[in-house]
Amino acid sequence: MRHLLTLWELTAAEIERVFAISRDLKAKLQQGLREPLLAGRVAGLLFEKPSLRTRVSFETGLAHLGGSSLFLGADVGWGQRESISDFTQVLSQYVDVIVCRAKTHRRVEELAQHSRCPVVNGLTDLAHPCQALADLFTLHEVVGDLQGKRLAYVGDANNVARSLLVACAKLGVRFAIASPPGYQFDPVFAARVEKELPGASLLQTRDPAVAVREADAVYTDVWASMGQEAEKAIRSKAFASYQVNEALLKQAPPEARFLHCLPARRGEEVTDAVIDGPQSIVIQQAANRLHVQKGLLVWLLTEA
Ligand code: CP
Ligand code: NVA
Repeated sequence: MRHLLTLWELTAAEIERVFAISRDLKAKLQQGLREPLLAGRVAGLLFEKPSLRTRVSFETGLAHLGGSSLFLGADVGWGQRESISDFTQVLSQYVDVIVCRAKTHRRVEELAQHSRCPVVNGLTDLAHPCQALADLFTLHEVVGDLQGKRLAYVGDANNVARSLLVACAKLGVRFAIASPPGYQFDPVFAARVEKELPGASLLQTRDPAVAVREADAVYTDVWASMGQEAEKAIRSKAFASYQVNEALLKQAPPEARFLHCLPARRGEEVTDAVIDGPQSIVIQQAANRLHVQKGLLVWLLTEA
């Protein structure tokens, strides 16, 4: 039994396998085919934070594959009505997979520790692995072979950025990040990437123009993530010169694509002109959450 808490747990070959299943399922869906590869399987979606894409793409994906899902909000009493151990051992005998969006990464680690079925991280403060899988799948669809391509991330070195860096390092994509002081990668995390993924290419800078210079893709995310609302004013100041706007995009090669995990704060980290512009692939990127999570579930529940 395997969990997916971070992308550290997947090899490059496993990511490629998930992508291959996802490509096949996407092509079949486009022909109207919905094979019941997970007939009768049930996912429990345990969410402590709001979601559109992650929740709906997992629920829809399970339905396409002949399975079903249960959305578990606050009323199940996770960590409140009973011990985490009792809760998780019981839940994980009812369902075949738990998808969890938690306030802290420790919460999904605890789930995985007690769970009798696979646990998939649907976002924590430290990682968003399903997002990064869909992002690199999308980039591959658009630019082809990923080896040696460069993804430039402009903004907060947050959960999304961390998972992207690990995904890029595993798949041979060069990663550049521009963040203001205080919002850069934790040095322990960056050192781990360089130590454990020797092929990794990581450029860290304060200057967005330097990061995007050779980019095949320019990526950004919100300046204040869910749970950081109280820091919004101070973060808006710190990130004021990190907006992805037309002027910054002009510093990148003309064929560079724009990505964003969404939801976006238009007018803050990205302008309307960029997110709605010809270089933006954010809607295709969001659509691929569905296809890639279907591929991930099929791999996790039938092959891993
Ligand atoms: N990108 C993403 O995970 O979106 P949701 O928060 O809507 O799930
Ligand atoms: N960094 C954002 C991503 C939302 C999908 C957050 O954690 O709120």
